[in-house]
Amino acid sequence: MQHPGGGTSTRAIHAGDTEPRIGAPVVTPIYPTTTFYSDPSGQDEVLYTRYGNGPNHLLLQKRIAALEGAEDALVLASGMAAMAMALLSVVQAGDHVLATDAIYGGTRALLDRELSRLGIESSYVDLFSPEWTRSLRPNTRVVLGETPSNPLLRVLDLQPIAEAARAHGAVVIVDATFGSPVHFRALEHGADIVHHSATKYLGGHSDVTAGVLAGSAARIGEARKRARVWGPVLDPHAAWLLERGIKTLSVRMERHNRNGMEVARWAETRPEVARVFYPGLPSHPDHQTACRVLDGFGGMVGLELEGGGAAADRFVRALRLAKLAPSLGGVETLVSEPRYTSHAGMTPEQRAANGIRDGFIRVSVGIEDAADLIADLDQALRAIGGDHREAAD
Ligand SMILES: Cc1ncc(COP(=O)(O)O)c(C=O)c1O
Repeated sequence: MQHPGGGTSTRAIHAGDTEPRIGAPVVTPIYPTTTFYSDPSGQDEVLYTRYGNGPNHLLLQKRIAALEGAEDALVLASGMAAMAMALLSVVQAGDHVLATDAIYGGTRALLDRELSRLGIESSYVDLFSPEWTRSLRPNTRVVLGETPSNPLLRVLDLQPIAEAARAHGAVVIVDATFGSPVHFRALEHGADIVHHSATKYLGGHSDVTAGVLAGSAARIGEARKRARVWGPVLDPHAAWLLERGIKTLSVRMERHNRNGMEVARWAETRPEVARVFYPGLPSHPDHQTACRVLDGFGGMVGLELEGGGAAADRFVRALRLAKLAPSLGGVETLVSEPRYTSHAGMTPEQRAANGIRDGFIRVSVGIEDAADLIADLDQALRAIGGDHREAAD
């Protein structure tokens, strides 16, 4: 019963199930134990919780591997822990990481502030430019992508990028958090390791912090070796919550898709909105790629407001149903201004050069009724008031 096959929804509920036994619970219990009685050899599959091999971890890893079409998966204490273990499983002092310039701020900090201290260099490149391969160096060991990207929702055509990286001898790691495995399975597009912050769509309820990796048994085995020593294990209770969240991943994504599209289409009709960023809209630069490589356009929508930062501040203060909070992928609608959160480390000029002007609002569209959400966003737009052009900053 390890791989029940079937579609994504079936796998999300059943992959990794044990054979049913009369009297056994339908739902995996939580194993809040730090250790397990063992065989004298110490070679047991289930042994010690820091090793991440308790029953809650093992089941979750089988389920995630099935969702990604991977040989193996690893669950860890956060998305950042998972990215750190993925990178440390490949690079060593003297190596170079070539990362997309549209990378999550935390990952950029990991590369620039932490891996640099270990003698690992990083540089950034526009992976959408055909010239990107010129930035490969003889010591480039990892090409690191993120798709769809935060917050502009750029969608990579990964296959040719992965082929060029491989031809150079680099390992391709892809952060696919924004799509979830329902929309984009990066291994099918040539990635060696796919990464998710499971804190987002996989968990789906803003109540668990976790990260996952999936890939070949050899690659995940290397990451697992690092994790055993560095110790970022996922607590068994959090693993249980994540497993529960994943059961409804497919239905949640269907609603995120529908609501995302409705909000994006509505926003395009509003004069207060200068630009809408949503890969499902023909106006998005990667719409054609998104139609080809994604199985859903998702619930993330970017809105660039007329009136700049002052208008954005007034807008977020006026919201009633949608809440201001720096995360995404949960059942509730959350908004944030990247200039205060994910992109706070950049100057306004640097952000603008990257396409993120002051006035940019990132909306993680939840699974509420779309009409209620749109009514809330609409009243907040109207509350900006005045001559929004004067308010530009
Ligand atoms: C795209 C992306 N990757 C990684 C992370 C880090 O995940 P976590 O907060 O679970 O460590 C985040 C968090 O916002 C993210 O948005």
